[in-house]
Amino acid sequence: MGDGCVRIAQLGVGTIGRELIRRTLGSPRFHYVALGDTSGVIAKEGAFTEEELRGIVESKEAGGRLEDYDGSHSFFEDMGGAFESCGLDAFVDVTDAQTYDLLMEALERAHVVTSNKLPFADVPYSDYLKLVEAGYEGRILDFGTTAGAGLRIPDLVSKLGAGGIDRLTGCLSGTMNYVSQRLNEGRPLSRAVAEAMEPPRSYTEPDPRVDLGGEDFARKLVILSRLCGRGVERAMVDVEELIPECLKGLPVEGFMESLPDIDPCIRERMRVANSGGNLCWYLGTADLIEERYTVGFEEIPMTDPISRARESDNVLKLFPSGWRRPVTVIGPGAGSPETVTGLMSGLNSVLSAVG
Ligand SMILES: NC(=O)c1ccc[n+]([C@@H]2O[C@H](COP(=O)([O-])OP(=O)(O)OC[C@H]3O[C@@H](n4cnc5c(N)ncnc54)[C@H](OP(=O)(O)O)[C@@H]3O)[C@@H](O)[C@H]2O)c1
Repeated sequence: MGDGCVRIAQLGVGTIGRELIRRTLGSPRFHYVALGDTSGVIAKEGAFTEEELRGIVESKEAGGRLEDYDGSHSFFEDMGGAFESCGLDAFVDVTDAQTYDLLMEALERAHVVTSNKLPFADVPYSDYLKLVEAGYEGRILDFGTTAGAGLRIPDLVSKLGAGGIDRLTGCLSGTMNYVSQRLNEGRPLSRAVAEAMEPPRSYTEPDPRVDLGGEDFARKLVILSRLCGRGVERAMVDVEELIPECLKGLPVEGFMESLPDIDPCIRERMRVANSGGNLCWYLGTADLIEERYTVGFEEIPMTDPISRARESDNVLKLFPSGWRRPVTVIGPGAGSPETVTGLMSGLNSVLSAVG
């Protein structure tokens, strides 16, 4: 735009998307020209007013669909259509959908800021490279919030990765960090998961199997390892799922009722680790020298900085090549305010680029 403003098209008006809109309200620097959800995309060339944005956020919060939003705007079946009709400086993807093709298309016209892991982790490494290379061609491709949310762990890994990183290990799932702490205090798995689900914590996804399955965690490990230049594919990550096959098809309530069945097995793992003077933590580890990638329980010494991660913190130890000691990052690695702070950092970079 070149007048100190960023015109934004945003796909996703969920928890993070709504909070991001709220955070930009009142700023003369950020203007929304298009918003999309699973029902379609509404667009306004001259940008939505603050009042309109408040109305859209309220209606989405109440479970509304953009398709049904009443106002003066154009409607498109998908974001591609909106790209054709309105000028934009930044495309923000805050969905949990596979948006790889859309990001490639967006980068031809705008900078991209996203917290969505799928386009970076759930595609072959060769496609990932095409995406990040498209980002090098004069466009910002900001995916710093895809691991550790506002901690922007990918940024740190990219920077330290310049000199090589030998190993990464840590807990990149807030739920599994909370569960690991409680297990080492002697709580049964079923109780630890129930506590993580209950308000005011509400750390888990509505279905805690998403967290216990390790899939989202594995995606973060893939992204960080790829940033270290390793051609890792998701299938190369050995994931220890904490969901027995027989509990996979149950509704959430049934799953929670049956979860105590696996308490004894997990309790024994803890007992063995603790009696050897160790803790047992659910970790992701990328051995970048041996190219071995795992997500699951690992024993760590009681004094390991990983055990200092509290509640739903994320924690990561990085071992830069040739450094005397590892670098440890610990802090809140999920949540709306944290993630939106990280996304605003991306939008501010766009502002600097277009201003
Ligand atoms: N929540 C966190 O703490 C956190 C932290 C770091 C990263 N993230 C990542 O940030 C992203 C957003 O998270 P969230 O918590 O805001 O999720 P959410 O509340 O489930 O919202 C997802 C939004 O994306 C839209 N959407 C999904 N698939 C779509 C598609 N195919 N086309 C168009 N719109 C689509 C949904 O539309 P409808 O409204 O129509 O359903 C919804 O508005 C996710 O990728 C998540 O992994 C979240």
